[in-house]
Amino acid sequence: MDIIRVEGVAKSYGQHQVHKNLTLAIKKGECFTLLGPSGCGKTVLLRLLAGFESPDAGKIYIDDTLVSDVAHRLEIPPENRGLGIVFQDYAVWPHMTVFENVAYPLKIAKRPKEEMREQVMKMIDIVGMHGLDKRLPSELSGGQQQRVALARALVGNPSLMLLDEPLSNLDANLREEMRFEIKELQRKLDITVLYVTHDQEIGLAISDRVAVMNETGEIQQIGTPWEIFEQPVNPFVFHFMGIANSIEVRRENGAYLVGKGQQPVPWKSPEGDTAHWIAGFRPSDVQIARDGEGLRGIVRRANFLGAMMDYLIEIDGAHLRTSIETHRALSENLMFKAGDICTIRFLNLLWFEADKVKEAAQP
Ligand SMILES: Nc1ncnc2c1ncn2[C@@H]1O[C@H](COP(=O)(O)OP(=O)(O)O)[C@@H](O)[C@H]1O
Ligand SMILES: [Mg+2]
Repeated sequence: MDIIRVEGVAKSYGQHQVHKNLTLAIKKGECFTLLGPSGCGKTVLLRLLAGFESPDAGKIYIDDTLVSDVAHRLEIPPENRGLGIVFQDYAVWPHMTVFENVAYPLKIAKRPKEEMREQVMKMIDIVGMHGLDKRLPSELSGGQQQRVALARALVGNPSLMLLDEPLSNLDANLREEMRFEIKELQRKLDITVLYVTHDQEIGLAISDRVAVMNETGEIQQIGTPWEIFEQPVNPFVFHFMGIANSIEVRRENGAYLVGKGQQPVPWKSPEGDTAHWIAGFRPSDVQIARDGEGLRGIVRRANFLGAMMDYLIEIDGAHLRTSIETHRALSENLMFKAGDICTIRFLNLLWFEADKVKEAAQP
């Protein structure tokens, strides 16, 4: 069953159209990540779902209830949508204790004092803040403040939690720790999580499914983290999911030739008559050697990065980057300098039609 259904939603601010015709369904119980570059409309979408903004067109259902329907001027207010929300800046109120912060939504809802106390203390426990209920935010670490924000979002027993880059203010170690805690909380409380972020690592680590959005707010692919990473449908997704590289390949008389030269790609090639291709690869899928089997290239730039050597290589007008551990380069005679000849082998290539890549780049 779908817990969120977005159907044909559009939203503009003045001339700026953030969402054109957005359709998206999220299943009950899943941890769903919406992944996209900064400014693509993730926060706007969460605000539309929460009811802080109204769409210009389209419908939104939450738990099978129509909460927003432009055609019928229907707009259910945020407090009646049954959501828990942690926004980007997760502001906890500085003048309120942990207890008061977490209790706030229940106080607004005028719940009985006893019930409120019980529920708040339970939530403080669940997020690992036992014994800290009387502290002020200034007496807490960033990670603890983040837990308060989570507890406050969860205290009303929502079946759906919206998280807007909740870890972006934390340092790298804490971020890693907290993302597993969020996943744990989701399991423990058996709720649906919609997590939005520009950080593909978080998306891969915690999600059952991921949707990748491009700069202009269009969903490019929806799938499991594995599908998105291993079978990206286009170069945008491929590049967005990690440091990735590509070279131009053209088809001539049935052969696939790199750049402007005559060297064929001697590995698995795509089917079809398309003339111009982009072959994508990850850094881990390139091997560089002095000679032997492979494409002949010239090292154009060699950078020493401490643990790694980073090479820019030209193959008949096509450029690619690859790196190799410095100690390996030293022991295997792979310390190249600019102007050296090398051979390149790919362990895996992903093929994209060049015309479609151009179309995608020019919305
Ligand atoms: N209230 C607003 N008024 C005008 N423009 C806005 C408003 N809110 C968001 N935008 C614009 O909408 C686009 C998407 O913003 P946002 O959803 O915050 O992006 P992100 O994906 O980084 O969360 C941005 O270009 C932003 O400037
Ligand atoms: Mg945002």
